[in-house]
Amino acid sequence: MSRFFSRNTRELTPYVPGEQPKDKIFIKLNTNENPYPPSPLVMERIRNFALEDLRLYPNSEGATVKQALSKYYGISEDEVFVGNGSDEVLAFIFKAFFDNTDKIGFPDITYSFYPVYSALFNIPYVQVPVRSDFSIDILQYPEDLKGIIFANPNAPTGLLISVETIEKLLQNRPDTLVIVDEAYIDFGGESCVELISKYDNLIVVQTLSKSRALAGQRVGFAIGCKELMDGLVRVKDSFNSYPLDRIAQIAAETAFIDTKYFNETRQKIIKTRQWTREELLNLGLEVTDSKANFLFVKIPGVSGPEALLKLRQEGILVRNFNNPRICDWLRITIGTQEEMKELVEKIKKIIAG
Ligand SMILES: Cc1ncc(COP(=O)(O)O)c(C=O)c1O
Repeated sequence: MSRFFSRNTRELTPYVPGEQPKDKIFIKLNTNENPYPPSPLVMERIRNFALEDLRLYPNSEGATVKQALSKYYGISEDEVFVGNGSDEVLAFIFKAFFDNTDKIGFPDITYSFYPVYSALFNIPYVQVPVRSDFSIDILQYPEDLKGIIFANPNAPTGLLISVETIEKLLQNRPDTLVIVDEAYIDFGGESCVELISKYDNLIVVQTLSKSRALAGQRVGFAIGCKELMDGLVRVKDSFNSYPLDRIAQIAAETAFIDTKYFNETRQKIIKTRQWTREELLNLGLEVTDSKANFLFVKIPGVSGPEALLKLRQEGILVRNFNNPRICDWLRITIGTQEEMKELVEKIKKIIAG
């Protein structure tokens, strides 16, 4: 550590991203990417991009992406904010709405970036334990929170909270900002985007990294009332005015136009998830009822780190977390049907010892 680090930098415990191997020898089921390529229309539009335009800065607000999103969701362009991946959008939310005198609450088992952003911006936070079956008791969160954030479906469990429950939360706590991270919503959940017209205490965050197969382009967005989105623009314009490059804007805008491809690929992933879940249950594994593009599983009699290592030796990358409540569980991204068949065979081998 350099002696020039600020106290804040010294005290950070940064998020650890999943491994991106340099070669392709692994079946990569560790970072919840889409196993299918982006829409052919997206790839065609990128190929036709006039490269000489890279000389110019991009539109600072991602205007065409906002247009596509407003059309797709039937909302106003003022109710959308786009950023460089939903991680950046989430960071801006933490910065825009919370001070070091406010408190934000989230489940003890959820996306591990939430405590990282809290620490980065010096925001006090409370990690509320999920129930023993990993479900979130969202209506019983402490009273003194200025904000509540959770992933829905949750990560890494894949468990979903209904829109009715979220609406109850919004009604019960009109002075609490509720942030719903819908990174995985397209794989079987119902989005609560429609609620933003009724509640000014709701922000919905989504990404193009998962169901739209554009993790490499880094595009995410928030949807909420205009006043909340204005707060995000204030932070963006105090940090980086041009978070989305020109090619990312073209890719993102087009991804919301090609709905046919989007629906076909996400249905394929859902079907493969159901097939894999059944297979693993039949093998005696514990498997949560995931509505995301991953499964959360426990192999009886094999510790999480050991299972991870054995799968790695068999050429399959998965994810394991060191939170003691889930250290024996694995998060396994849904790949192609062939990749998941291979996974099931390797797990059979591990069980057989
Ligand atoms: C729950 C959740 N939210 C947000 C993200 C960030 O996605 P991105 O920054 O690629 O948009 C992820 C990525 O894995 C995630 O799991």
